[in-house]
Amino acid sequence: MPDLIGTKTRDLLERGLSRFRGGQAYALRAAESAKLGFQPPMQLIVDRAEGDFVYDLEGREIIDFQNGWATNPLGNCHPEILEVVQAAQKRYGFHWEHPLRVPVAEAIAATMPEGALPRFSFEVSGTEAVESAVHAALCHTGRRTIIAFASSFHGEGLGTKLISAYNSDNYVGLEAWSGGVIRAPFPHSSVLPPGLNHAQYQDYCLWYLEQYIPKHVMAADNIAAVLIEPALAEGGNWIPDPTFLQEIRGICDRQDWLMIADEVLTGVGRTGRFWAVEHAGITPDLMVVGKHLSGGIEAFAGFAARDDILGNNPKATGGSTFAGTPAGCAAALKTLEIIERDDVLSHAQRLANIAEVSMADWAARYDIVSEVRGLGLLLGVGFGQDEETGVLLARSVRDEMLKRGVWALCDFEPQVRLYPALTMSPEVLKAGLAGMEEAIAAVSSSGPTVGDYPAMPNGNVGF
Ligand SMILES: Cc1ncc(COP(=O)(O)O)c(C=O)c1O
Repeated sequence: MPDLIGTKTRDLLERGLSRFRGGQAYALRAAESAKLGFQPPMQLIVDRAEGDFVYDLEGREIIDFQNGWATNPLGNCHPEILEVVQAAQKRYGFHWEHPLRVPVAEAIAATMPEGALPRFSFEVSGTEAVESAVHAALCHTGRRTIIAFASSFHGEGLGTKLISAYNSDNYVGLEAWSGGVIRAPFPHSSVLPPGLNHAQYQDYCLWYLEQYIPKHVMAADNIAAVLIEPALAEGGNWIPDPTFLQEIRGICDRQDWLMIADEVLTGVGRTGRFWAVEHAGITPDLMVVGKHLSGGIEAFAGFAARDDILGNNPKATGGSTFAGTPAGCAAALKTLEIIERDDVLSHAQRLANIAEVSMADWAARYDIVSEVRGLGLLLGVGFGQDEETGVLLARSVRDEMLKRGVWALCDFEPQVRLYPALTMSPEVLKAGLAGMEEAIAAVSSSGPTVGDYPAMPNGNVGF
């Protein structure tokens, strides 16, 4: 087993190996990788979470940039959110027909750009919310296909696996089901075709979307919508130029396609504005929300839409049993209230400025760093000159960070992603970034130490 943080963690993970999905694959790959001198990524199990920190099973205090997979805008276990969640649970238990839905829908509508998306559909998870939004777009237009982007991630349901283009393994086994999804290139600066600079590649992506697809892939009048993450989150916190989103808005208008923004991860302040589309000054026709609205405590997701799209669209049903639980609605309402009351976005912007300054010269100082990216507190550091080495370097840096008491995300991408709480104390942010820089320096000297492992089969803890 891996060089884990401590024996309690190791014991629990070992028990999970025989219970969870992928346990055999993990053990096999671990043995192969060990022969090559690599170790598996270190794992962390949260024993307790409070404010800017988590505490592992051995009681170590760890700075939390992992943020419950970017679900926690106000710090761990925010007492006010806990209080309203517990009060809602005590009062309503679970009933679908509770009184908090209306004020939540009103509060969310008030945040929408130009107040243009007044209707809301409650869903359980971001996954379900994306699927439901796509269905609403298909039903509204009477068309059969949608366009999604390379490296995007929209969830783990059947529909969202088909839609996401995280990598080509995404739809293995599902090929025959994916006829309704057209995938378009997304202009990453780190994945440029030979001979093109970034601006030229962005132009190519836009040309492909507006010219190539309608001519060679699918008739424009059979395309219902373009679904886009305003920044590729799971794809490595890659942030497009605002002109890319503006152009897509223009293409959708010219082609009569709906624009669906998936703000499950980028929304509710993560990028320094309430919604990431605000950086580009555009309004989508549907917007998918989730994660942060949970206040880090209780699941909440859904999608907002134009009145004409969702006001009278009887075939576009949605909202399963646990969509919009009383506790989830209470968490969302309180989160929105606190963000406004405490001017959380201004604090987040101050933190973003600190991060920008701290990370400014990393790409110049460390050969292994290919790129530092940031928009608000959506922060990412890219590693290596090619994807394969980059993944190993990124995972090794994440390991070294963990050894220094800083927890960040690195899934299967050649990046380490950071999601500090929007309310994190500046001192903790600085300490976490200093730990990350030390980790980068250590891996710069040692080279990659962590092998190419599948996800740890313990409910994905750790990456
Ligand atoms: C952009 C985006 N959309 C959708 C989802 C799926 O949300 P959930 O995991 O809540 O189902 C995610 C999850 O990471 C996401 O990042």
